[in-house]
Amino acid sequence: MADPTAIARPALTGLAPPPEKGASFFAQLAASDANVFELLPRAVFETPIHRKGKSPLLMVHDPDGIRRVLVENVANYPKEKLSDEFFTAMFGEGLLSAAPAKWRRHRKIMAGAFDPRSVAAYAPTMAAEANAYAQRWAQLPEGAEIDVAEAMKALTLRIICETMFSSDAEELTALAGTALGFSSDALVFSLLDVIPVIGPMRMKAKKAKIHNDFSAMDGAIYRMIEARRANLDAAPNDLLTRLLAARDAEDGSGLSAQEIRDEVITIFEAGHETTAVAMTFTFYLLSAHPAEAAKLHAELDAVLGGRAPAPEDLPNLVYTRRVVEEAMRLYPPAPAVTGRVAAGPDEICGHKVKKGDRIFISTWVMHRHRAYWDEPERFDPDRFSPERSEGRPRFAYMPFGAGPRVCIGAAFAMTEATLILAALAQKVRLRMDRPQDVELLARITLAPKDGLKMTLEHRAAAS
Ligand code: HEM
Repeated sequence: MADPTAIARPALTGLAPPPEKGASFFAQLAASDANVFELLPRAVFETPIHRKGKSPLLMVHDPDGIRRVLVENVANYPKEKLSDEFFTAMFGEGLLSAAPAKWRRHRKIMAGAFDPRSVAAYAPTMAAEANAYAQRWAQLPEGAEIDVAEAMKALTLRIICETMFSSDAEELTALAGTALGFSSDALVFSLLDVIPVIGPMRMKAKKAKIHNDFSAMDGAIYRMIEARRANLDAAPNDLLTRLLAARDAEDGSGLSAQEIRDEVITIFEAGHETTAVAMTFTFYLLSAHPAEAAKLHAELDAVLGGRAPAPEDLPNLVYTRRVVEEAMRLYPPAPAVTGRVAAGPDEICGHKVKKGDRIFISTWVMHRHRAYWDEPERFDPDRFSPERSEGRPRFAYMPFGAGPRVCIGAAFAMTEATLILAALAQKVRLRMDRPQDVELLARITLAPKDGLKMTLEHRAAAS
């Protein structure tokens, strides 16, 4: 008999507990155009380290194990070649895929553009863009339909272009649609990609298509680089200037146009899509959780009193930030860190690792692991309060990865996401009538497969 005291949970996609049994190889193959993380068996969410039989794939979801792979013995666990090839096809040797020596040099050059002072300097632009977007939404008719996934991509693209390249982004944004649209199609995780003969053939075809689709975008980026180089003395102090002005401490050499292009395109892509999906899922969750939405609105009303949010409000937007954190727990924009491969033997939490073993660390799994979270499938932003966070292991929550390859834009993204949510949620609610019909797609990022169409309600009119 049904428990009459049980709270009715909204039927959101992706919030069911993991299945008892994992999917078969063929079911996984068939699901390569879906969210494969939902097919993992419950045991993966209950055990710290999981290896099926003698498989070379070791699933590591233990905080100490993650520390071993991503921090302590990181040199023994380079990124998997297949992912590197994908990234290189699109981003050349940008930070995501650069070989160690180049990665170290470039990360050092770029770090300054992401330090707390720089992020604080970008915050007014983030707020201005988010508030302009909120104004636009405020002028739409009640009941207007919005594709939130598309809208958030457009907004985060504008922010990344303005803050990193001081560009109004019109040309780049138009071109990005074609280039990045296909490339993310090419990035569907599929078991077909690791099958001998078929895998390399698929890879070759995808690379050729990516190269073709990126050529117009590359042209625009090279023009932007040359225009800036010609006027470097009067240039704004953004990432592009930093990349152009960088000089090697020993030989005084600078970065080549190709190297700069690779970093620009890496930041352009890595710096907007992830934050956009984080916001998309935030609105998805809020639409089905009225109590949490009401608490968010109460905070916005109390802190802002009807005026547009500004960077100075950030320390007071405590619940707003928790909502974003909780949305990224349940729907991590990067559902797994890039696969790593053991370069030599090692031991992870008592498990022997052989050279060539593949290490799989999933944020989706970590964020719903039974050992670290109560009621893992429940949307509960206050679990990020200091009291309730106490004692939680460091890597139980890792939407931005960990170790030296941790996301360079983590602070940027949190500042941006909090300001966007404050600006938009202050003005509108977004409703969804059949949230259970949404399908998820896990590629490099996790996203709603066909966008996310929601209905706009003006807050003043709705309350
Ligand atoms: C909610 C937003 C974001 C999420 C969830 C996210 C997530 C991640 C994760 C998990 C990694 C590590 C990948 C790995 O170890 O395989 C990563 C790396 C990276 N992210 Fe982000 N990211 C976000 C926003 C951003 C932004 C705003 C930027 C730039 C403006 C950015 C730029 C990068 C770069 C360049 C790397 C590679 C770092 C390196 O290897 O040195 N990301 N991100």
